[in-house]
Parts: sequence; structure tokens; C-alpha cells
Amino acid sequence: MSDPQSYIDKNIKKFENELFELLRIPSVSTDSKRKDDVKKAADFLINQLESIGLDKVTLHETPGHPIITAEICPHDDKPTVLIYGHYDVQPSDPDHLWKTLPFEPTVKDGRVYARGASDDKGQSFTHIKSVEAYLKTGTEIPVNVKFILEGEEEIGSPNLIPFIKNNKDLLSCNMVLISDTAMFGEDQPSITYGLRGLAYMEIHVTGPNRDLHSGVYGGAVENPANVLCEIIAKLKDDDGVVQISGFYDDVESMTPEMREAYKQLPFDEEEFKSDLELKAVHGEKGYSSLERASARPTLDVNGLWSGYQGEGAKTVLPAKAGAKVSMRLVPDQDPNKIAQLFADHVKSLAPDTVTIEVESHHGGHPVVIDLNYYGLKAAAKAFEEIYDKEVLFSREGGSIPIVADFKKVLGVNSILMGFGLTKDALHSPNESFSLKDFHRGIKTSAKFFELLPDFVE
Ligand code: BES
Ligand code: MN
Ligand code: MN
Repeated sequence: MSDPQSYIDKNIKKFENELFELLRIPSVSTDSKRKDDVKKAADFLINQLESIGLDKVTLHETPGHPIITAEICPHDDKPTVLIYGHYDVQPSDPDHLWKTLPFEPTVKDGRVYARGASDDKGQSFTHIKSVEAYLKTGTEIPVNVKFILEGEEEIGSPNLIPFIKNNKDLLSCNMVLISDTAMFGEDQPSITYGLRGLAYMEIHVTGPNRDLHSGVYGGAVENPANVLCEIIAKLKDDDGVVQISGFYDDVESMTPEMREAYKQLPFDEEEFKSDLELKAVHGEKGYSSLERASARPTLDVNGLWSGYQGEGAKTVLPAKAGAKVSMRLVPDQDPNKIAQLFADHVKSLAPDTVTIEVESHHGGHPVVIDLNYYGLKAAAKAFEEIYDKEVLFSREGGSIPIVADFKKVLGVNSILMGFGLTKDALHSPNESFSLKDFHRGIKTSAKFFELLPDFVE
């Protein structure tokens, strides 16, 4: 019998192969044609959790994709860590930009390329393997561990929110542990203590009853594409300030201490620019790039359509135009309130020559976690022991909607122990995950379980 850390070192190839098996399953939650594949990924995980010896391994059917729970709770007097992860992935689209097949994991230069490699199959799998390292070596796990894995994170977790409300006892815990964020840079362990919220909207502009000849009718009929562009152009001013009335009412302003903490982070703007081949950075006047991307709210067009998109020219005055717009939110903005303000504002900008409909998609609340929380300190120590480097604390711009609900419904903090990197290309073609971080992630998770009891306050 070896100890958990050496079990991890010895079995890393086996763990990688198991991860690759999971990555081969195209569990795209937004695509109804992939429903069976999402279920296949859930079954794979059920099988994993059972075979490592967890108790109460359960697949809970929902109106959407299944939720998985399992636990190993041998202690009355030790903290309980609820591990959250998601096994659904974003679509691989646009497929032609992938250099290797999105659902055929390919290893190159120490990284595995596949959709979901980092977000979130590779990252969440680290915790399953670290628990395995305890159970398979007969080492008593130092804390109680529960799992909750969902298949709907990428579509806004619609069924998880009611599930946690209805299963408070099953999920009762002292903290949630999540690996679904990025580290500040390569070999730079980081704990994320803030995530933005989200309000996702769709605008439809309808003009004439059919597409028209742009010569015969152009000039005498309102063009929905022009109207849509005018509306969108008015949503922000030249300083990047959102013009929706009330948008900033609940925004917590940055204190000088917060701004100083941001300045201390080793962010290299030149590298940021060259990585994205940007001519210049851009954003709200008066804020740094890091602040703009995590501590300030945004409004961005995510999709835009109207008129002729094919090759060459077609003289057409389109009957319809549409856009998808996302707003990233910061404390204490409320996604429902912001969605309403957006809808009212867009409608107020509409000329009476067209019909405008505004629809609200999923949303999520922003979160900031208290840096003094003992769980964060234990996580930082675990990271430091495995990565041999001091941890940075930073806020991130992405969203994990359920984190706010864990706080509201279960009353617990989440520890965002990300093992990803921004260069993992989440949601983009050629997503990848460093196998070294997969390995160190498993070890950090196991170390965290070991150290946590000493940090309880
Ligand atoms: N793992 C990401 C969120 C993330 C990425 C947080 C990087 C911090 C750093 C998550 O899977 C995600 O993509 N969330 C969506 C939420 C949405 C679909 C409700 C997002 O942020 O767009
Ligand atoms: Mn994710
Ligand atoms: Mn994602």
C-alpha cells in the first residue's frame, strides 16, 4: 500500500487514459441531438465514482440533463467538502478551425487537445482521482467529501438551482470546492475569489413582411438591420460606459485598496496584446485591462444577423434583424433587474416603424468570496506545497452561476481552485489542458484534503 501522493504519481497514465475516454464523449448540453451523449458522459462518471468506492452514487434525472451525487463521509468531527464540476461542454463549432478532431483527444507538447479538456472535464476529474488515491490506498480520507456533477453548466444550470433547494440535507457541507477557472499564468497557482454574473439577452427587429429589393424599396422603407445597428451603437458611449439608465446603480465601486491589489498582480499588457494579436487594448475609460475584465460590468454583442450572408452581393433590404447581447455583472447587480432595464431601454430606443422584441436567456449572480475564509487559506497552502510557488488571489470575468446559489441556499463559500490557463482556449477551437497541471491538480486536491482539518477555525 502506498500513500495517496505516490499512488497519484504511479497511476498518472491510467488517469490520463480515463480522462481521454471521457473527452471522447461529445456531451454538448445545448445541442438536443447530443442528449444521449450527455447521458453517456453521466454514466461514465457514475461508473467511475462507483468503482473507486464512493457511497450513495446516484444519477438524478431532471427535465434536462442528469445530476450526479456521491459521497464518502466517514467523520463526525471533520469538515465536509462538496466538490462541484460540470461534465457538459460547449459546442465544438466552428469545426473547420480545429487542427485535430474536437472529440478525439490528441496529445501534443504535454497538452491534451479536445473540447472540454480544461472546461471542465479535465479540471473536475482531478478531484475524482484524488479521492481515488485515498480510497485505493486504504488511507482514511482526512475530511468528508461529497460530489455534485452537473450536465447543464454551459446552458445556465437551469435544473441545478431547484435541485440544491430541494436537497439541502443531501448536499449539506462546510464549503464547496470547484476547479473550473484559470490560473494567473503558467506555473502560477492562483485562487479566484470573484466571478462575474451574467444577463444574456436577444433582440429581434422586424420590419416589412418580406425581404425586399433594396433598389425598388430602399429609402422608403425602414431597414431593420440599420435600426438594430443604431440601437446597439447607443448602448455604450465613446468612453465605454453603458448607457442603460440604472445599469450602474448597484455596482460596488472599487476601493483604493482593491485597485492597489489589482496593480500588484503580474499582468503583462504587451503579452496580452500579442497573444490576441490586438492593435490596442480597449474598454471603459479610467480602468485597467484587468479591472475591465473582472471588476467592472460589460455589455457585448455575442451574435448578430440580418440580410444576405452568402458569397458576392445580393441587393436586399432584410425583413428582420437580430442580435444576442451579454452583460457581465459585478456585485451587487441583479441579473433579473438588469435584464428588465435592458429590455425597457432597448424598446425606448426603437422607432415606431418596426417591431422590437427583447427576450431574456439565462443569467447568473456575481460573487466575491471573503479572502479571510479558512478554506481559502488551506487551498493556498496545498497549492504552494505542490507548485512550490506563492499563490495569487484574483477575480475573474467568467461566470459559474451556481456559486452564488451555493452561498444563498446552502450558506457556504466556494473555493475556486482552478488548474486551467487562459491559453487553454475555453469555448474556442483547439481547447487544451496541460497534462502537467492535470497531474499537479490531482496532487493539490489530495493535499488540500490532508491540510484542511488543520485550518478549521
Ligand atoms: N468555466 C467557465 C467559467 C470561467 C471560465 C470562469 C474562466 C472563470 C474563468 C464556465 O464553464 C462558463 O463558461 N460559464 C459560462 C456561464 C454561462 C453559460 C451561464 C460563461 O461564463 O459564459
Ligand atoms: Mn466551466
Ligand atoms: Mn464553459
